[in-house]
Amino acid sequence: MKEKIEQNRKAIRPTWSDLYDLKTYKKMKKPRPEQFLRIKDTKVIDLSKDFSSIKQKTLSECIGSRRSLRSYKDQALSFEELSYLLWETSRVDHIDNGIIYKTIPTAGATNSGETFVYINQVEHIEKGIYLYVQDKHQLALVSQKDDLTNEVNRALFRQLRGAQIVVYFTHVLARVEYKYAYFGPKLATLEAGHACQNLSLSAEIIDAGACAIAAYDQERTDRLLNINGEDHFTIYCATVGKKN
Ligand SMILES: Cc1cc2nc3c(=O)[nH]c(=O)nc-3n(C[C@H](O)[C@H](O)[C@H](O)COP(=O)(O)O)c2cc1C
Repeated sequence: MKEKIEQNRKAIRPTWSDLYDLKTYKKMKKPRPEQFLRIKDTKVIDLSKDFSSIKQKTLSECIGSRRSLRSYKDQALSFEELSYLLWETSRVDHIDNGIIYKTIPTAGATNSGETFVYINQVEHIEKGIYLYVQDKHQLALVSQKDDLTNEVNRALFRQLRGAQIVVYFTHVLARVEYKYAYFGPKLATLEAGHACQNLSLSAEIIDAGACAIAAYDQERTDRLLNINGEDHFTIYCATVGKKN
């Protein structure tokens, strides 16, 4: 165990100056990895960008009321509320000269994260696992099957707790490693933290709450999202639902 602890400690405190001498793929002028995940030939849902019925609160109010929420009211999120959460959490704000800027900071603008969502109880959207298409503000269907709620719950080690949605933050390591080589895993975890915090604070706006979850079944979750679990894997997730 001691060895494992040492090894993992090293991974989160690399010596930054070593990076200057590293021959990264970027410095070698290798092709830049694909920046956006796409799912071919699937159902696509355009999300709303009209948030006029969402009553805003101050940042201090959101920070002040935020607590991990583990018990939820049995009430569907509206289509607009779901759209709003994803818009604030994971959207691409703009692309300038090929550089991708999101609502959250991403290490060196490498945009390595993707976002998936399990829709459990949202008005006008069928239950299923969806990819949030971050540059188009759309959902793309990944899978729909009987008994999905049970599978999702099992992959969360029974922590679904009746939440209306589960948001999964995943990482495509090749994107961050292109510029930052073995510093990638540390940067990936930091980026996921930014995303989850945006989600938690946005949930407060709609009188909902989030519970960040790191204790999930890695293999089952990656399988559920249909990602390979090697260079693209789940790094963090959160359940979200209405406050009682
Ligand atoms: C990295 C991280 C992982 C967490 N994983 C879980 C988890 O798996 N299950 C859970 O119920 N809460 C999880 N939490 C929530 C913490 O338990 C919670 O933030 C902590 O108890 C403090 O409570 P608060 O969020 O209400 O301030 C996690 C929080 C963080 C930051």
